[in-house]
Amino acid sequence: MDPILAEWLSLAIRWIHVMTGIMWIGTSFFFIWLDASLQHYQAPKPGIAGESWLVHGGGFYAVEKFLVAPGTMPKELHWFKYEAYFTWASGFLLLALIYYYGAEQNLIDPSVSQLTAGEAILVSLAFLAGGWIVYDLLCRSPIGRSTGALACGVFLLVALAAYVATHFFSGRAAYLHVGAFIGTIMAANVFMIIIPNQKKVVKALLAGQAPDPALGKQAKQRSLHNNYLTLPVVLMMISNHYPIMYESPYRWLFVMGAVILSGLLRAYANAKNAGAASRDVDHLLVLAAGLGLCLAALPALKGGASMAVNRQVDLTEAAAIVQQRCLACHSATPSDAFFKAPPRGIVFDSAADIRRYAPMIERVAVATKMMPLRNKTGMTEEERAILGAWIAGNADHGAGE
Ligand code: HEC
Repeated sequence: MDPILAEWLSLAIRWIHVMTGIMWIGTSFFFIWLDASLQHYQAPKPGIAGESWLVHGGGFYAVEKFLVAPGTMPKELHWFKYEAYFTWASGFLLLALIYYYGAEQNLIDPSVSQLTAGEAILVSLAFLAGGWIVYDLLCRSPIGRSTGALACGVFLLVALAAYVATHFFSGRAAYLHVGAFIGTIMAANVFMIIIPNQKKVVKALLAGQAPDPALGKQAKQRSLHNNYLTLPVVLMMISNHYPIMYESPYRWLFVMGAVILSGLLRAYANAKNAGAASRDVDHLLVLAAGLGLCLAALPALKGGASMAVNRQVDLTEAAAIVQQRCLACHSATPSDAFFKAPPRGIVFDSAADIRRYAPMIERVAVATKMMPLRNKTGMTEEERAILGAWIAGNADHGAGE
């Protein structure tokens, strides 16, 4: 495929993916909130679980929730399912375009595993399908009867996914795959459980029979899982822009931390929506903040450059290193086989560029080893230390060279 066409395609599909994702998550959060806000304002009405009054965009709305279903079907019923289907389908297309079509550059990493591009694609497909199968079996097994046990089971499943993904795929692909693994479970929940169950309820009503309440209960359980899984999915999807996470030797720990942290935040939000007083649930926020700080401290343990250079380094020497190791990608005209435009628009073509970006260079190539990406250009420890000495000299003398 023409690389320019691939870029436009990627942009178009990503746009659809983000928009449908926003719609899906928006409705999901709205309905969980709506459920939590239900009240009996007057004497309880028979068959009604509660009502909620809303104001938005200059209009007032009153919504009632039925305990199981209305006695008769209205003429028109609004379903919420295409947001989920389109989010998954566009996500899968994007995955195929970037990580299957571009498998050589993006999916595999010889420093992680020896898989060929073809093998890695098969592992990826099995990984996504397997995730749903195991999750669904877990929910249907005796473990599924206890919310706490099931939560632990799903957490262990995601932890296993993080471990597998980070040991088969490149760091960036691993994070995206954990996101896609959870996202696939969520979309399949809608497609395989929630919507079919709702259809059965509607069918029973139309036939004049009482629908089985277990159908609604199962759908509600899966819908609540989706609510809890949303935050980690979005975090995994955006963290693939943060080599500080996915290039870290602790990358799989980050994933698990992110899942727990998201769970705490979600539990806090849900409890608040259900009317819990702040002081009763504030400890959830404190725990989440503590966990976040612990996670942020992790890459520091890696210790950056492993040697020190104690001499004056000038801009010419620093620029020569940067241009040798970074220009393949970070140039107005990259020579790298894959990157046809400078990543994040960052270029080091001139000495002035390098001086301007000095603090960023320190962060990604001295304090951490995020760059060069996968050390594709073979930067040495000594070169990192020389860059470190140049930046330290800059800070001391403020001369800019
Ligand atoms: C093989 C290609 C490649 C090479 C070589 C490379 N980079 Fe990058 N760089 C990338 C990509 C891709 C990104 C974007 C990462 C993202 O957004 O997910 C990036 C992003 C960056 C960023 C922005 C990161 C941030 O968190 O804001 C900086 C700074 C950077 N590179 C500096 C360097 C330096 C310095 C070198 C040389 C020591 C280097 N890069 C070598 C591909 C490369």
